[in-house]
Amino acid sequence: MGTPREKSAAQRGATKKKGKIYLTRELVEEYKAGKRELSLDLGRSVTKVTNELDAVPLEEVKGDFVYAWDGKELWKVAVFDNGLYRLRMMKGKPILEIDGLRMHLIKDFDDVLDYSKLVVRGLGVKEGDSVLDTCMGLGYTAIEASKKAGKTGKVVTVELSPAVIAMAKWNPWSRELFDGGIEVIGERSCYDYVREAKDGQFDRIIHDPPRFSKAGELYSRTFYTELFRICGKGGKLFHYVGSLGEKRRDVMGEASKRLEECGWKVVKKNKRLQGIFAVKS
Ligand SMILES: C[S@@+](CC[C@H](N)C(=O)[O-])C[C@H]1O[C@@H](n2cnc3c(N)ncnc32)[C@H](O)[C@@H]1O
Repeated sequence: MGTPREKSAAQRGATKKKGKIYLTRELVEEYKAGKRELSLDLGRSVTKVTNELDAVPLEEVKGDFVYAWDGKELWKVAVFDNGLYRLRMMKGKPILEIDGLRMHLIKDFDDVLDYSKLVVRGLGVKEGDSVLDTCMGLGYTAIEASKKAGKTGKVVTVELSPAVIAMAKWNPWSRELFDGGIEVIGERSCYDYVREAKDGQFDRIIHDPPRFSKAGELYSRTFYTELFRICGKGGKLFHYVGSLGEKRRDVMGEASKRLEECGWKVVKKNKRLQGIFAVKS
């Protein structure tokens, strides 16, 4: 894991977006079994494969990694940066894994994107809304929000990790993040970003941080107070908090209490989404 070749290949590759082929072990097995209607972009589209894979060293596609081929080189879509960041296929779509931890809630959902759809629906994001997505990841929630906010709305999303930004640039399912419709604030903490945002700037806020034990400051009163300040009156917040925290702490209950102390009115604790809907009433 994380050999210099992997690292430099993934980092170099992150700057090139077009004309790549993506492979997994399952795809190679299907190809070897004679199937030719295949997806070479991780399930976004299906291609009739003719000679596209002729030069690919298919025997090197192993395990549950996603691989990319640029016509010359094959490499794992993974970056080692104080931890292993990689794409991994789950239920037919890529998810982000950091040191083996999934950054998406998929267990109770048929489709990887369902979580984001339900969050955006629960927030009632509508045409013209100004939306802040504090923690971009692969941008699935930001993209879903952008579809609803439309051309007259605006979605801003913030991502701290350069390795995650590289994964998103590689991921065919994150393409809409970089086509100009969404403002991506990269390599910056949302903790700092919110301090500089204007009072009442956002109609909807999606806060989907890493778990409490990994990013405690994003569950703090200081942060919740800033989110309250930059949200407009009547605006709504969704805050992923996870299920029972470490040492059986009731993270949902504790976060709800802190949100209310900072002015938010908690309207729903959603067990399936493992998060809290709140309003600035
Ligand atoms: C649970 S994932 C978000 C998944 C995202 N909703 C999606 O649809 O793909 C959390 C993300 O927050 C990022 N992150 C962690 N700390 C952050 C911070 N202080 N500011 C912004 N992003 C942060 C992590 O690198 C990770 O990509």
